[in-house]
Amino acid sequence: MIHNEKVLVLDFGGQYNQLIARRVREAGVYSVVLPYNTPLEEIRAAGYKGIILTGDPNKVNDDESWQYTVGILELSVPVLGICYGARLMARLCGGRVESEGREHLPIVADIDIESRLFKGLDKYQQCRMSDAEYVSDIPDGFKAIATTSNCSCAAMEDEAHRLYAVQFHPELMHTENGIKMLKNFLFEICDCRGDWEMSSFVQAAVENIRGQIGGKRVLCALSGGVDSSVAAVMVAKAVGSQLTCIFVDHGLLRKNEGDMVQKMFTENYDIYFIRVNAQKRFLDKLAGVTDPEKKRKIIGEEFIRVFEEEANKLGEIEYLVQGTIYPDIIESGSDKSAVIKSHHNVGGLPERMNLKLCEPLRDLFKDEVRRAGLELGLPEYMVWRQPFPGPGLAVRCIGAITVEKLDILREADAIFREEIENAGLGQDINQYFAIITDMRSVGITQNVRTYDYTIALRAVKTTDFMTAEWARIPLDVLAKASNRIVSEVKGVNRIVYDITSKPPATIEWE
Ligand code: XMP
Repeated sequence: MIHNEKVLVLDFGGQYNQLIARRVREAGVYSVVLPYNTPLEEIRAAGYKGIILTGDPNKVNDDESWQYTVGILELSVPVLGICYGARLMARLCGGRVESEGREHLPIVADIDIESRLFKGLDKYQQCRMSDAEYVSDIPDGFKAIATTSNCSCAAMEDEAHRLYAVQFHPELMHTENGIKMLKNFLFEICDCRGDWEMSSFVQAAVENIRGQIGGKRVLCALSGGVDSSVAAVMVAKAVGSQLTCIFVDHGLLRKNEGDMVQKMFTENYDIYFIRVNAQKRFLDKLAGVTDPEKKRKIIGEEFIRVFEEEANKLGEIEYLVQGTIYPDIIESGSDKSAVIKSHHNVGGLPERMNLKLCEPLRDLFKDEVRRAGLELGLPEYMVWRQPFPGPGLAVRCIGAITVEKLDILREADAIFREEIENAGLGQDINQYFAIITDMRSVGITQNVRTYDYTIALRAVKTTDFMTAEWARIPLDVLAKASNRIVSEVKGVNRIVYDITSKPPATIEWE
């Protein structure tokens, strides 16, 4: 059994569901995120140690979904309502909720230090509220355990039934002791032990894979990215030489990337590793194509073709390893769904090839995947790699893709990344890379006129890659990268730095 105890995060929409689930796991308790319309019987049967109702910024007064979950408070399981979840609890228990925007900023709450939810905390706590509604009448059986200057119920409890509600957000850093409050819920109220550890997860997962796969053969489409690498290593540890990894080098990888991935896997693991050098095939198909979506489609289709050809040569294979991770499962709407975001699902391969899926990371968040990778002994440079799109440099090479442009891009990109790392900014900036534009301009080198490409540099800070801020890199770092690129890379005479955030720009240029 991988999870001895687990807590349910029942999601009523909004942006914080995954953050809450991660905070619970960081506290050492395994958490599961399910949509609000999950049948009550399913929830009851799962035997959760606690339930957290989340949701933001919906209004319970507008929304009929609250009626659905009346029984959620009657399972004899402790419940914590957060924000929408707090107001939902108030409504379900017969209280009143008023629709009026109140606190939007961090605010000081006067808390009841006798409450188990606030054990060990001082009387005044800075909290982050962002509510479009507030609880105006506290339900019978509850008492207020926090107030603010203009909110008489910022938190409430019915201790006898172990029901707790906070109008503020304990999962956000703006709530100074929010993590402590969540821990109090988990350990003081739900009696969790906190035994969710990566080492025991990895051990149990490896045994599960052995059980699932038995003596059959397994295939893995290895991209060299964090998820597929950790998944492959986990399966390698479980079934060793029954695993074949196919690494398709489409010629759109970064400098030395193909060799690095090959070396890592062939030197350290007892698996079959096939590197398909399909550079020419891909470049021929992409010749003259400028439309970004067409590029993606061509690459996706060609990838499947190459992969199928190689797999067919191998004969009897029963399973396909995929690096699907928990956010993909949550975003696809249901814990049970096998729907996978397009860039994680290798173009529908399992259906086409009649393969069963082995997804050893489907329960893990990204930071947990990295921890699992470290636990499995993957080197730090593999575990901390920044995201790299499946279509590779194709989406960083604007306009038609040529060998010349790709070579220039690879060199410029390697220099920029090296300078960021040399400046000690690598951990600080979440993604940084170069783009080769389709524009050439006039320059001068050693008194000779040049007409060369412009390279753009991109560096962003982000937590979820859905939004991103352009990184304020020190100018001397940019200057050094620029000087090095124009002097070391032939064919480049101009460098620009992208100072747009997402939105309105995207992180990649195509
Ligand atoms: P955008 O450009 O949409 O990128 O702001 C958000 C994140 O997704 C990565 N990305 C991709 N990853 N296939 C992938 O596997 C793709 O086609 C793709 N396009 C963008 C991008 O690098 C960033 O981390």
